[in-house]
Amino acid sequence: MSGTPPSEWHGGLPLPPNFRKLSFAERRTLLLELASGAGVEEAQFDDDLLGLGRSDVADSLVESAIGYLPVPFGVASGFIIDGHPVSVPMAVEEPSVIAAATYAARLVAGEGGFTTWATPPEMVAHVYLEGARPDGASAVLAGRTEIEHCLEPLLESMRARGGGLRAIGADSIAELALLRVSVTIDVQDAMGANLLNTAAESIAPLLEKLTGGTAIMKILTNEASGRRAGASLAIPVERLRRGALSGDESARRIVLASDIARFDSSRAVTHNKGVMNGISALALATGNDTRGIEAAVHRYASRDGVYRGVTRYEVSGGVLRGRIEIPLPMATTGGSVGFQAATAFALELLGHPDGPTLSRIAAAVGLGQNFAALFALVTDGIQKGHMRLHAARLALQAGAAGDEIREVGRRIAEGGRFTRDEAVRILSQLHERQGAGE
Ligand code: HMG
Repeated sequence: MSGTPPSEWHGGLPLPPNFRKLSFAERRTLLLELASGAGVEEAQFDDDLLGLGRSDVADSLVESAIGYLPVPFGVASGFIIDGHPVSVPMAVEEPSVIAAATYAARLVAGEGGFTTWATPPEMVAHVYLEGARPDGASAVLAGRTEIEHCLEPLLESMRARGGGLRAIGADSIAELALLRVSVTIDVQDAMGANLLNTAAESIAPLLEKLTGGTAIMKILTNEASGRRAGASLAIPVERLRRGALSGDESARRIVLASDIARFDSSRAVTHNKGVMNGISALALATGNDTRGIEAAVHRYASRDGVYRGVTRYEVSGGVLRGRIEIPLPMATTGGSVGFQAATAFALELLGHPDGPTLSRIAAAVGLGQNFAALFALVTDGIQKGHMRLHAARLALQAGAAGDEIREVGRRIAEGGRFTRDEAVRILSQLHERQGAGE
């Protein structure tokens, strides 16, 4: 796998270190300034961020559209990935995900950042044939030139971009008496679904002729196991001291937590959900196919027959080392990617990476997200940080508005009673004091 990023990617638009501490209005103003500089249509970007996207865009993206469901769009700033600064756009409804990613980004950046890698972006499509002759598989391999010729018009422009056909294979599914033909295509910066499906459909008649079978299904596989990206991090254990826990003990527990996720599938599901908190949020923010990516990752997590955690940690020489490698079919062109102004801005914020580089960024985000969750789990527990951030939601539900939301949230967190009643009590206390002119 390649170990250095493509030379034309120089990281994303850096945001000020205090970005997360700015008010909502200040963060928006800053991003809108960056967006207009980036040529993203400001009014549309603004509407997208408010969930007021254009009806014609919604209507062209999905069927029977009636509007948009706004998902909060935030930025985890402070990542260093392969030496480049990166601010990561994240679309997610859950509190503490962006805070955790930001936390991990800062901690890892202090140690030089994440190192990442990726395989070539190859995807596979299958044609399933029923009733093929016994020599069907070898007939397909012998007919490779004919198949290539059939695919040529479809793959011409992909080949010009450096991608194109990479392999043709055939194997039998004996239990079902089926022949499965596989076509592997390097899709460069695209997700590739349309291209793969069209390729499979266009060669099906030829495969029927070659094998004597009937093509009953032609579809890409979302397995994407050949399209992987990975990331690693290294943090000296002394940086992991937490309250009464030494850095050594925190690190030991993080390693143990990742081992638990290797051997206990029940825990592995939650472990991997934590990884996907970051990856799916980045995928959604850039308009990528979150379902395809999630399906690929979960399949990969169970590739040896047992569902396992997709990250590993170890301690050596006083350093905690973490690693992830998973299928990450992330695209930077085609499909819905960059279709809306907000997703176009997300790519601008990331410095217009190519597809494999976006996959590498996603690997770093997934690993960082997982690290932050494990670090919290084995030290303070997840609820302390999570509930502090969840408190703002309780404040809003209680009727707080504007600056009151942060203030009521802060007081709820201080008191440690995370209920709506408590939020109502604190808000009315605040209003009484304001009424009394305090
Ligand atoms: P903390 O140390 O209590 O927070 O951690 P802090 O206020 O001292 O801030 C430390 C740093 O965190 C900050 O540094 C920021 O980098 C970041 P600073 O800027 O002050 O120099 N940070 C924030 N960044 C952006 N916005 C914020 C914010 N607050 C802090 N508002 C923290 C608090 C939440 C970060 C930590 O407890 C944590 O990482 N927890 C994990 C939270 C998590 O994973 N949430 C996802 C939901 S739970 C889940 O779905 C997954 C899970 O089940 C997976 C699994 O089981 O493996 C957990």
